[in-house]
Amino acid sequence: MAGFKITGWGIGLPETVVTNADLEKTLDTNDAWIVDRSGIRERRIGGTTASLATLAGRAAMDVAGVTGAEIDCLILATTTPDKAVPGTSTTVQDALGIVGGAFDINAACAGFVYGMVVADGLFRAGAKRILLVGSETLSTITDWDDRSTAVLFADGAGALVLESTQDEGCLVSWDLGSDGSLNSILYADLGGYLTMEGKEVFRRAVRVVVDSANKVMEEAGLKPDDIALIVPHQANLRIIHAVCQRLDIDVARAAIVIDRYGNTSSASIPLALVDAIDHGRVHSGDLLLLTGFGAGMTWASAVVRWP
Ligand code: ACO
Repeated sequence: MAGFKITGWGIGLPETVVTNADLEKTLDTNDAWIVDRSGIRERRIGGTTASLATLAGRAAMDVAGVTGAEIDCLILATTTPDKAVPGTSTTVQDALGIVGGAFDINAACAGFVYGMVVADGLFRAGAKRILLVGSETLSTITDWDDRSTAVLFADGAGALVLESTQDEGCLVSWDLGSDGSLNSILYADLGGYLTMEGKEVFRRAVRVVVDSANKVMEEAGLKPDDIALIVPHQANLRIIHAVCQRLDIDVARAAIVIDRYGNTSSASIPLALVDAIDHGRVHSGDLLLLTGFGAGMTWASAVVRWP
């Protein structure tokens, strides 16, 4: 059975850095509250979902040493498409010269891991090379006068090149979940802004992420100590700490970029993963636990063995 290996990685970020001090100028908030309650110190704002995805995708393709002509599918996870129609993936496909199929996935902040599981299925159906991107411009659906959300959400993108392999591949185990009855605790109407019951999302997020992460570790026959690095969705540093504590994984083994990039939804897991790679924290044979949650409420976890 063909699985996949990871051969390229990259990120795309807007140049504009917005610090907590910048937000203090227009909102009734302060750096101490934002850092204490979320862990965020600054975030990047700007660009389009397609332009950030293109930056990340090109960087990942450069690392893998492949051209668009060698990629037979582009999967773009996003909850902030640039247009209602067509999918933002088609703009990215054109910019990167990708000749194969292209489609968007919207599973909110769990979208990147959803995309990875879908990619694994495509490899088993015969795909040779897939570009998987998570890209968001949450700033476009954020009410900048609402301090309860404006301090949290941001823009960015991360990408991986996945290639077919004849062995079992990188994806060791996975779990996808969704509970649509929780729609109302976090949503944005078409043309509207993100509305969130923060405390309820926090409470539910810790629970579903811990359950999902335990499920994939159990399925893979792993104990917490076997996980070299946990790469969680970056929504709140306190959620990351609570999840690590409940999973019995030392938070020193967590990839964390929320302090610099804020909450970038489906881009946050690849942004954190690439940061860990760039800092020499990922080694051949390492077992990584990717786990995310988001609006829906959706969640997704995967154990990945680094090639
Ligand atoms: N600056 C200063 N004060 C603030 C701010 C702010 N930016 N925002 C809220 N406050 C005030 C509130 O008005 C409240 O004041 P009060 O006590 O006088 O009523 C007080 O701070 C406490 O507010 P809470 O909402 O209770 O603060 P909490 O500790 O719950 O933190 C937060 C809020 C950060 C939103 C937290 O609940 C959270 O992170 N929830 C999860 C959010 C999340 O994960 N969202 C994304 C999931 S999916 C996705 O990524 C798209």
